[in-house]
Amino acid sequence: MSSELAIRVDGVGKAFAIYEKPYHRLLQQLFPNAGRSWHREFHALRDISFEVRRGETIGIVGRNGSGKSTLLQIICGTLTPSAGSVQVHGRIAALLELGAGFNPEFSGRENVYLNATVLGLTRSEIDERFDAIAAFADIGEFMDQPVKSYSSGMYVRLAFAVAINVTPDILVVDEALAVGDEAFQRKCHARIERLRSDGATILFVSHSAGMVVELCNRAVLLDRGELLAQGTPRHVVSRYQKLLYAPAARVDEVRARIRADTDSGVAVGTFGERSDGEASDGSYFDPGLVSQSTLSYPSLGACIEDPHIQAPGGQRVNVLRTGSDYFYTYRVHFEQAAVGVRCGMMFRTTTGLELAGGASAVAGEGIDVVEAGNRVEVRFGFRCLLAPGVYFANAGVLGLHGESEQYLDRRIDAIMFRVLPDPDRLATGFVDLGISASVSADSRGGV
Ligand SMILES: Nc1ncnc2c1ncn2[C@@H]1O[C@H](COP(=O)(O)OP(=O)(O)OP(=O)(O)O)[C@@H](O)[C@H]1O
Ligand SMILES: [Mg+2]
Repeated sequence: MSSELAIRVDGVGKAFAIYEKPYHRLLQQLFPNAGRSWHREFHALRDISFEVRRGETIGIVGRNGSGKSTLLQIICGTLTPSAGSVQVHGRIAALLELGAGFNPEFSGRENVYLNATVLGLTRSEIDERFDAIAAFADIGEFMDQPVKSYSSGMYVRLAFAVAINVTPDILVVDEALAVGDEAFQRKCHARIERLRSDGATILFVSHSAGMVVELCNRAVLLDRGELLAQGTPRHVVSRYQKLLYAPAARVDEVRARIRADTDSGVAVGTFGERSDGEASDGSYFDPGLVSQSTLSYPSLGACIEDPHIQAPGGQRVNVLRTGSDYFYTYRVHFEQAAVGVRCGMMFRTTTGLELAGGASAVAGEGIDVVEAGNRVEVRFGFRCLLAPGVYFANAGVLGLHGESEQYLDRRIDAIMFRVLPDPDRLATGFVDLGISASVSADSRGGV
């Protein structure tokens, strides 16, 4: 086996005993050799094989009950497989479903020590890292309260803070992050991003197509305990969505098609697939790139509709090229008349950093009156001078209310887009300011 492998799952199966009546379990235990059995076997996983290379980020998707958590538990060693084997190379830190890992009677502080010890840290190593853990969890005085008094969000904050601060070689996350609030999720994503760039291997379960496409190199689709597809996140997520939205009567057919697709050998790579409508500069629309963190404020008589990015030829795109020009556009439907109307936008990073914004007019110079029932379309032209990566765009429409201006409608993270890698890019950081470098050498060689 190559030393580059972090995880190898080989022919793993898991069968659970299912008892029709609770007392059947007792009968089975009392009379194991009675010549009959009081249970039937339910196969939660069947013959699962895949490998994870060191440094890869793998997303596991699948419908409820497809076996995702069971698989993660087997990989983490908290559940034994009924068939097959798992090999793990390196320190593995896991955030499994709520309830796993912490002792509810102990305080947060005691659990940090307990948990980090289980993950292989010495007491002095934990002492050293405790402040960083507490700062990341940011749960204040609850650190000294018993964990049973925590909200599920606080629980996840602490569990995640421990998991990432033990500097794991492999981080396994089962859905748990969805429990945290938006700010915490962003903080976690940024941290996962950093662990990833430091070379950690990450395996996570998510129902969020956007997150899998954004974070993963590769994805795996489980269904009814079977590995139905693996490949690029875009490929796998689109199959997953087909399965998710298939009418019940067609599910078997869709499953068969996905399986056949996988068998014919799907390209495995880092980048998503293109869908139709590629623009002349090579930018395109990826339907899997959907913002999962859109936050809509209550509307005050106006409604933002269909925010999206267009290439100059009018094609809708969300995978952009550095250096190309685009429009960010949306419509506003006014349910009530409004005065002094201005439209705004903001681009942000995945960690919420505001990179660049704009408005259709300065304050006080907006459209005098928009009648009720009318629509306004706004187009913000921009040059994409952003580093490769994933970004979000906000949209907001303002109107005058007496003397003061207020948002009539506002969407945070209204859309998500990606900027493609550019091998010729010399600029570093998020934004390219056109920095030019000139280097001269002193021919005398002295200082
Ligand atoms: N201890 C158990 N005993 C019996 N059946 C179990 C047990 N644990 C899991 N199962 C069954 O195994 C199947 C897979 O469960 P699992 O929790 O792995 O699914 P999942 O993909 O994580 O689902 P979700 O998306 O809802 O989290 C389900 O049908 C579940 O009912
Ligand atoms: Mg689960």
